[in-house]
Amino acid sequence: MTTYQIVDHAYDVVVVGAGGSGLRAALGCAQAGLKTACVTKVFPTRSHTVAAQGGIAASLGNMGEDDWRWHMFDTVKGSDWLGDQDAIEYMCREAPKAVYELEHWGVPFSRTEEGKIYQRAFGGMTKDFGKGGPVQRTCAAADRTGHAMLHTLYGQSVKHSTDFFIEYFALDLIMEDGACRGVTAWKLDDGTIHRFRAKLVILATGGYGRAYFSATSAHTCTGDGNAMVLRAGLALQDMEFVQFHPTGIYGVGTLITEGARGEGGYLTNSEGERFMERYAPSVKDLAPRDMVSRAMTVEIREGRGVGPNKDHIFLHLDHLDPKILHERLPGISESAKIFAGVDLTKAPIPVLPTVHYNMGGIPTNYHGEVLTRDGDNSSKVVPGLMAVGEAACVSVHGANRLGSNSLIDLVVFGRAAGLRAADVVERGAIPEVAPASTEGHLDRLDRLRHANGSTPTAELRLRMQKAMQKDAAVYRTGETLREGIQAVRAVRAASDDIKTTDRTMIWNTDLVETLEYMNLIDQALVTIEGAENRKESRGAHAREDFPDRDDKNWMKHTLAWCDDKGKVTLGERPVHDFTLTDAVEPFPPMARKY
Ligand code: FUM
Repeated sequence: MTTYQIVDHAYDVVVVGAGGSGLRAALGCAQAGLKTACVTKVFPTRSHTVAAQGGIAASLGNMGEDDWRWHMFDTVKGSDWLGDQDAIEYMCREAPKAVYELEHWGVPFSRTEEGKIYQRAFGGMTKDFGKGGPVQRTCAAADRTGHAMLHTLYGQSVKHSTDFFIEYFALDLIMEDGACRGVTAWKLDDGTIHRFRAKLVILATGGYGRAYFSATSAHTCTGDGNAMVLRAGLALQDMEFVQFHPTGIYGVGTLITEGARGEGGYLTNSEGERFMERYAPSVKDLAPRDMVSRAMTVEIREGRGVGPNKDHIFLHLDHLDPKILHERLPGISESAKIFAGVDLTKAPIPVLPTVHYNMGGIPTNYHGEVLTRDGDNSSKVVPGLMAVGEAACVSVHGANRLGSNSLIDLVVFGRAAGLRAADVVERGAIPEVAPASTEGHLDRLDRLRHANGSTPTAELRLRMQKAMQKDAAVYRTGETLREGIQAVRAVRAASDDIKTTDRTMIWNTDLVETLEYMNLIDQALVTIEGAENRKESRGAHAREDFPDRDDKNWMKHTLAWCDDKGKVTLGERPVHDFTLTDAVEPFPPMARKY
């Protein structure tokens, strides 16, 4: 047993994660006068928000008429009616304010001729409740919007006196009597253990794209907060809904922004056909991501893929003015060159649907408060715990997120969490926690540090990623999902024999990889078990054996618990089909055609 030096801290609020939502939440808490810490495993400006390219949705109306109710309708329809309409109303109504706030803080948005924030078209964003054509709603800083936002938010957080704990790996939530009382973390550069007592913990730990083999997500996207929630005996929600972005670069998965199609790019098959015209006649290449990914998959399956193995699709930008490409899409011009060897002014980019985003996550209300089930099966708030950003399932994205609704989700709900914290966190002393509440965290760390089995972490991770890629893909069937469950369970069982390779060093990247893998495997399990259980097709969950949406039986959220033996229990929660104000009526379900 390693003897750990434990360093104690006490804060009103501890935010875990320093991406867009974590920084926005931390900023709000600090502005409210709460003593706030932000604990992050990577340097804040390396958080995955930095990789967001195309933009942030808000109905500013800078490039033609727009209305937040149209944005709300598009988001509800995009979610395939699994999104909670109260939360969607809140997000779309608050979105313009949140974008102007970013502008005032210094985000260097691209500009129109008149000096307004530039907005581009994105998939599923339309005029007049879907009756008009595509609308230009996505506010952009060239194709580096996330980068610009993250740097601005970090600067503001520092200015407003958030205390940063950088390169601290969060281990587990300190739970007492059903309430969260803080979080433990391992400081990577010296191996010390830090116990953060807090009145409120806000998880902003992002998605878990790395449960899959090919993802646009960074290596760090391992859903650590989601896994901490499962270990605390709480449920995750709608984990079966995994978004595939249509345009990851073939073979490497690097993102080519949807903004490329927003600027006039289009997809072709081996016959040179603009096939999206057949699948979504009105919006074509600007259909939502689930539809474009399915269309590409069908084209490839039916023998119309491009390349020697006919296993991918072409994205054309070579017809566009090079000046526009240089000005609006400089980042992907570089990515296409580096990762595909393509000069996109002259040749198409080879692309393939690639895992990009998790619609599922930690269930919350629109204030960011984490929800659990009460004895009578109603929802109740977990005291002391909030979640925001991709880690959370508010649920504004339902079964399928619209591109550019992620960045707006980060800042709207990061801000909402700060506002709520200002209201609910009582001023005064920060309560003590019992030593027993953290012992399990250290035992687990120690066990994994000294794990000396025969299977290296990297081997287990690869087996999990391959199984998820093969069996929980764009299209699923009961058979592939059951195979996948067996495969993922087998990998989880094999984890008893894990070998954390370099066990001799107090700080080591191998132990980080092991902790991250252990976080991923339970999320993989609840994802694939939830997918097997949901016997319908909705948004990104496309079951070939149940091709239709089934509102009668399945218009409900999935809840999933996973115990320490890997036993998954599934439950449900109703979808919110009501709005918050009289400004808009809820949108009743209808066929999702574009
Ligand atoms: O395609 C993109 O630029 C990604 C945006 C998003 O996921 O919201």
